[in-house]
Amino acid sequence: MEKPNAPSCERNKEPILEVFRKYIDINKEPYRIFEVGSGTGQHACFFSEQLDNVEWTTSDLAENHAGIRSWISESKKNIHGPVEFEAGKGQIDLSKYQAVFSANTLHIMGWKSCKTLFKVLGKTMKTDALVFFYGPFNYLGKYTSPSNEEFDKWLKEKGSHMGIRSFEDVTNNMAKNGFFLKEDIEMPANNRVLVFEKS
Ligand SMILES: C[S@@+](CC[C@H](N)C(=O)[O-])C[C@H]1O[C@@H](n2cnc3c(N)ncnc32)[C@H](O)[C@@H]1O
Repeated sequence: MEKPNAPSCERNKEPILEVFRKYIDINKEPYRIFEVGSGTGQHACFFSEQLDNVEWTTSDLAENHAGIRSWISESKKNIHGPVEFEAGKGQIDLSKYQAVFSANTLHIMGWKSCKTLFKVLGKTMKTDALVFFYGPFNYLGKYTSPSNEEFDKWLKEKGSHMGIRSFEDVTNNMAKNGFFLKEDIEMPANNRVLVFEKS
């Protein structure tokens, strides 16, 4: 199979890597990260290759597994999966992972599924565990750019359950599930990384 390619992953991988370098303790062996919605598997390959001590587990809906496999078959050993996981449907125990990473997924899954995901994170992750959400967010009901407004319109035309999430809704719901916002980091192209820690 030809490897799927998401150009956005190539553009955002370096700035996201900087966030991981800041938060991941490179002396801890191993540091296990579970990725929700790995998509092509590109991010997983890049981050696990760059971060020596990281054991990276990919996941997504079954329909994306062949693509993810085609990427990880060419990668180093510290990458696992893909695990079949769809937030809002399946159950999963994330207690063995020090962190969860998910890029560009909260605006794709419905809000109900987002809330179920936050619950699963809260129920199964341990104290001090980290969660990294990458993507666009709205603040106080406002878009952060005209391009995000266009993108949101496009998403909603594609599926009424999709749409750019509110920063306040995400942080409030994560707080309900035991996570406090450690940092909200600006990324290129009007995206953010929200870093949460389980208290
Ligand atoms: C826009 S893609 C992002 C993929 C990749 N993370 C990236 O940044 O390129 C959204 C991904 O979320 C996955 N997805 C959609 N609904 C999901 C759900 N309820 N639970 C987990 N993943 C979901 C899709 O299958 C898809 O791979």
